[in-house]
Amino acid sequence: MDLKILTFPDPLLRVKARELKNFDEIKGFINRFFDLMYEKDGIGLAATQTGIPLRFFVCDITEEKNSPKIVINPKIIWRSHEKIIFNEGCLSIPGLRLDIERSKKIKVRWIDERGNEYEAELDGLESVLFQHEIDHLEGKLIIDKLPKNERKKVIESLLYVKL
Ligand code: CO
Repeated sequence: MDLKILTFPDPLLRVKARELKNFDEIKGFINRFFDLMYEKDGIGLAATQTGIPLRFFVCDITEEKNSPKIVINPKIIWRSHEKIIFNEGCLSIPGLRLDIERSKKIKVRWIDERGNEYEAELDGLESVLFQHEIDHLEGKLIIDKLPKNERKKVIESLLYVKL
């Protein structure tokens, strides 16, 4: 399978992913998937960003890029009332950075490639990253978070600037 990172406004970015039943479904291309993220200097890449409608993402928030993680079927089970504003980018919307408000802390459950279950309370960059990637699995993008007028302007600039 020749995977590539889809960019806005590709309609496949809007597909809601389904739960992964077995790691075998992704085993064949997971290394290529990590390569795509590392090639673009990303810290996270969700399945839907390559047109795969399955609930998983990969991430690595270390500067050394030596801590790859596969997060399968993630579920947010708690969010703090406290918010955090973080300047986010997205490999599917190259060149755009937006200040996005999200829950500061979350509790998440997921499984890894061996079927091990995890539950963790995340804060800071990791919390933001998980929320960003889980949004992708719901077919949501950072531009969706903007107020309507601002969103329209940003979308127009994304669609028309290259003509
Ligand atoms: Co993204």
